[in-house]
Amino acid sequence: MDVFEAVASRFSCRAFLQTPVAEITVRDIIESASRAPSAGNMQPWRVYAIAGSRIEELKNLLTPRMATELPKGEGAEYTIYPEPLTEPYLGRRFQVGELLYRAIDIARQDKAGRYKQYAKNYEFFGAPVALFFARERDHGPAQWADIGGYLQTVALLARGHGLHTCPQQAWVSYHKTVRSFLKLPSNQMIYSGMAMGYEDSAAPINSWRSPREPLEAFATFSGFD
Ligand SMILES: Cc1cc2nc3c(=O)[nH]c(=O)nc-3n(C[C@H](O)[C@H](O)[C@H](O)COP(=O)(O)O)c2cc1C
Repeated sequence: MDVFEAVASRFSCRAFLQTPVAEITVRDIIESASRAPSAGNMQPWRVYAIAGSRIEELKNLLTPRMATELPKGEGAEYTIYPEPLTEPYLGRRFQVGELLYRAIDIARQDKAGRYKQYAKNYEFFGAPVALFFARERDHGPAQWADIGGYLQTVALLARGHGLHTCPQQAWVSYHKTVRSFLKLPSNQMIYSGMAMGYEDSAAPINSWRSPREPLEAFATFSGFD
């Protein structure tokens, strides 16, 4: 798979097969992704990879809490969306939610149905591998951005191995549980989780793709002859 195919075929996969992924593959992805650029070559990413019994352990901690705690969980450790979220971003966020729930026939008014689907975040959508990306508390916006670039590099390298991913900031709402589970040092905080594995291509939740704005909406060009 070339880089063009990797970019074009990556999407947020929300149903995985149980097929395991070899540790050596996950190690290779995590190591190779560190070729991602970072300001001053700080390489500010910290990665915690779990699989198998560790994933089961974490799921067992959270599953019984889902029915009463969603959508807030433990309260997010940092604000993911600007408040208030204004146009055009509000509309884009709304649209992607509508497309997702329409793909699995869950109506807007069906809050319980939506929470049930949302809760699958905390099962890593059935993925056999899960990653947590952490950041140093005293790092700033440039380092957050670098970790974002690292995360995307992981997602693209995963495609090279035939794997799919879903980045998961949903885990920020369970930061206390994740902190104690991973024994995260106090100077680090979770930036995002990520589910990784082989796509269940028969699952309706994986049947749609998120739209993008046309080029002219976000880029300008000048000086090209
Ligand atoms: C840092 C980050 C965190 C995300 N967190 C979640 C999440 O918690 N759960 C989820 O289902 N999707 C999550 N997403 C996926 C976005 O909804 C998705 O990237 C966006 O709608 C574009 O769709 P695509 O990734 O399929 O192209 C996240 C994406 C990013 C980049």
